Amino acid sequence: MDGDLFDLSGKVALITGSSSGIGESTARLLAAYGAHVVVSSRKLDACEKVAESIRDEGGSAEAIELHVGDRQRIRRVVDEIVDVRGRLDILVNNAAVNPWIGAVWKLPESAWDKLLEVNLSGVFMTSVEAVKRMKEQGGGRIVNIGSRSGLRPDSGQVGYAITKTAVEGLTRAFARECGPLGITVNAVTPGVVETQMSAPVLDDREAYAKLIAITPLRRHASTEEISPAVLFLVSSAGSFVNGAVLRVDGGNTL
Ligand SMILES: NC(=O)c1ccc[n+]([C@@H]2O[C@H](COP(=O)([O-])OP(=O)(O)OC[C@H]3O[C@@H](n4cnc5c(N)ncnc54)[C@H](OP(=O)(O)O)[C@@H]3O)[C@@H](O)[C@H]2O)c1
Repeated sequence: MDGDLFDLSGKVALITGSSSGIGESTARLLAAYGAHVVVSSRKLDACEKVAESIRDEGGSAEAIELHVGDRQRIRRVVDEIVDVRGRLDILVNNAAVNPWIGAVWKLPESAWDKLLEVNLSGVFMTSVEAVKRMKEQGGGRIVNIGSRSGLRPDSGQVGYAITKTAVEGLTRAFARECGPLGITVNAVTPGVVETQMSAPVLDDREAYAKLIAITPLRRHASTEEISPAVLFLVSSAGSFVNGAVLRVDGGNTL
């Protein structure tokens, strides 16, 4: 293998939910390694800010509004990327929600629907649209962001945990189906990471102490400790990794 194992020059990457948190960090890292990154989420303004700051640092980035619950929009966005950029090499399915915390028997139907729409159907539909294009170009990389909760569910977050377990199953099924097309499909499952989504846990001293007590590294992570795992899986360094679930959780799920 020649050259820089992590070089992404000439690659085009779509990262869902990259206006903040792990998605933003991933967009910044992939751009720093040479990819053109499409920063996307429901809020175009927030994506524009991230893309602009990547460009200010010398990277190549654009912002696109993409709600992953909107199937037609997913199709249009993927088509637009391929029309304008000529290809789509990397998809990072990062967008997710955790809209409700509490006993499962009180989970509102609307929250369950939202969880399935964004965390599962969103990953599925975006992957399907990306695979159609990657297949035509002879290959590609897909990384799904799961969670420690997919293996080690917390009480009070049953719906979220189920969607994250499903993301692991989806990853394995797509990996088997798409491997012969030259497309690798893997997952990264973070432990507790400091972002907007984890604020309820980070702010709850009791819940936080319990989580840290069962995490061998005895701390939570920064977003910059998760994105390198994605870089590995989408670069030459990860070329033979397919169907893997890379647990970047400080040992929480041991
Ligand atoms: N933080 C943790 O401790 C932790 C642990 C394990 C796994 N994770 C996973 O890591 C991933 C990123 O989460 P995060 O912690 O970085 O949270 P975050 O900072 O809240 O980021 C979530 C991102 O998803 C976007 N988003 C939400 N709904 C969307 C939709 N329907 N369509 C498109 N984008 C949408 C948000 O942007 P807009 O609001 O602009 O749409 C935002 O960019 C998620 O898959 C999460 O489950 C996080």
